[in-house]
Amino acid sequence: MAEVVINKPRDPNTLSNYNNFRTTHTSTNFDILFNEQKLSGTVTHTLESITKAEAHEIILDTSHVQIKQVKVNDQSAKWELAPRMEPYGSALKVKLDKPVALHDSITLAIDVDTTAACTALQWLTPAQTSNKKHPYMFSQCQAIHARSIFPCQDTPDVKATFDFTVNSPLPVIASGIAASSNPDTSSADGNAQTYKFEQKVPIPAYLFAIASGDLSFASVGPRSTVATGPDELQECKWELEADTEKYLKAGESLVYPYAWGEYNVLVLPPSFPYGGMENPIYTFATPTIISGDRQNVDVIAHELSHSWSGNLVSNASWEHFWLNEGWTTYLERRIQAIVHGGNEWRDFSAIIGWKALSDSIAQYGDDHEFTKLVIDLKGKDPDDAFSSIPYEKGFVFLYYLEKLLGQESFDEFIPHYFTVWKGKSLDSYDFKATLLDFFSADKHADEAKKLDQVDWDTWFYSPGFPKWDPKYDTKLVDPALRLAKHWYRFTNPDDPASWGPTWVDVDGWSANQMVVFLEQVLAFDKPLPAAHANYMGAIYNVKDTRNVEVSSRYLQVAMAAGDWNVHVFVTELLGRVGRMKFVRPLYRGLVKMGAINEAVACFEKNKDFYHPICRQMIVKEIFGKTGHPRP
Ligand code: BES
Ligand code: ZN
Repeated sequence: MAEVVINKPRDPNTLSNYNNFRTTHTSTNFDILFNEQKLSGTVTHTLESITKAEAHEIILDTSHVQIKQVKVNDQSAKWELAPRMEPYGSALKVKLDKPVALHDSITLAIDVDTTAACTALQWLTPAQTSNKKHPYMFSQCQAIHARSIFPCQDTPDVKATFDFTVNSPLPVIASGIAASSNPDTSSADGNAQTYKFEQKVPIPAYLFAIASGDLSFASVGPRSTVATGPDELQECKWELEADTEKYLKAGESLVYPYAWGEYNVLVLPPSFPYGGMENPIYTFATPTIISGDRQNVDVIAHELSHSWSGNLVSNASWEHFWLNEGWTTYLERRIQAIVHGGNEWRDFSAIIGWKALSDSIAQYGDDHEFTKLVIDLKGKDPDDAFSSIPYEKGFVFLYYLEKLLGQESFDEFIPHYFTVWKGKSLDSYDFKATLLDFFSADKHADEAKKLDQVDWDTWFYSPGFPKWDPKYDTKLVDPALRLAKHWYRFTNPDDPASWGPTWVDVDGWSANQMVVFLEQVLAFDKPLPAAHANYMGAIYNVKDTRNVEVSSRYLQVAMAAGDWNVHVFVTELLGRVGRMKFVRPLYRGLVKMGAINEAVACFEKNKDFYHPICRQMIVKEIFGKTGHPRP
């Protein structure tokens, strides 16, 4: 018999045999059981055979789910769950009576319940919500948590259309377009009502999303709605209505028309562990973007940009995550420049990004695998590789290509790239080939010559900082840099200066200018004296501002200064915000200043408030890998 060669799958973070079968459609039917804090239902995949090899089984990813029954083409099938393989879960193996011919499809229906160990769902009791009236639940599947809701090919290299049927006593939203027949009020008697949604654009499993709770809705643009708790609705509407449509139009002018129909935002309870998550139709967002000053809506420009980079054109595996996040950061900053009217605005954001890149490199060490653009994730958990590096090194790479080719030429490439890969997944080598092909010598001789200079291997595989200096326009950060220099001299007793701080120093500043100033202070070669840090907090009004980007950074400055009194503000913030970007450095700061007991007590008090993913990260921050508090 001729040997059948099966290519190795590109994605090392799935146990599924997606090179034999591909999911083309997934139909999910779930009851949301708030009392038991679980989802219970049936998931039906349509799977197409894509090899001539006679595969006798289908293997799907699962993690901590309870499987009750499996049917293949409506007939009960034999199945088993393989032993758990950390960090990927247990493979579900379904026996096929007879092999499936190339390009034929079968349906696989699985009755499944989630369990208390599910890492993708957070359940809030009524007491944990803002108006304390109703329970709440939401999902967060990226990177590999979809498998803890239902068995699936949990890889971004496979895309399927979806339909959702969800039964819940409370309003439901999902990553699909809502059916017009959906109920528009909560059920009066507390019984479940049925909500249906459809996603006709093929999406990877990590973009499956649902949420249910006491939701109310308001329009924030011609194709946009915000959903949130009734008490928060007006402030969320105000925060988003000025910019959402402007961002959509700017994104469309850079790439091509928005492909998903509606662009909506769900503003979640404060335990949402990320700034935002680009779930199709409904971006999920942290309530910390509702700062009352419209200064944090850049998160929306970012999530919206994923409508092209990530959601239409997806990384084939998490090893090429920069294709999702670097491209998205690039588009987000181009959108900012269009909306504010000047490239200095994107450079402003890029300068903040460079600092985030440098913090992440310092955190890992500058020769660490995860500081590369293209990383090796074999046997590893993509959550452990999550940092600013794919965002910011990816951005710098695209910025470099833009500067090398000229903005006009690069702008021709953008829609081309997003057209070629629309609806597909790609890796970094596909990206390189697409760029080189577009600017090939016969069509674009000048650009082709310029591209000869690109050292692809260095960009892809060298760890640490990019080997190219972007030379950003510092116009918008100069006042912040000047003020930081004053503070440096002011606190350096060898060099007394006549300058003294007053509130006028920061009068009229934007929150992001304050962020740049505080980051400069954080990077001083020695921390401020505690009294100076305390004084800064008082005169600049940064200790308990509503803008957490500002307050969390100030609190880091104060902790580094050893201002012991500040731990009360830190633990108060840690009980109110569960976004990992803020939570992790604040716990790290407490541990570093010797407030380990306060950190442990704060975690014990709030651990039910935090999302499971965040909880895991805090345990690593406080206890390290040993399980004992860090010294
Ligand atoms: N897709 C990410 C969030 C994410 C990444 C969740 C990996 C799980 C695994 C999202 O688009 C994102 O980047 N959010 C940022 C916001 C942003 C403005 C950079 C965040 O959460 O901070
Ligand atoms: Zn993103």
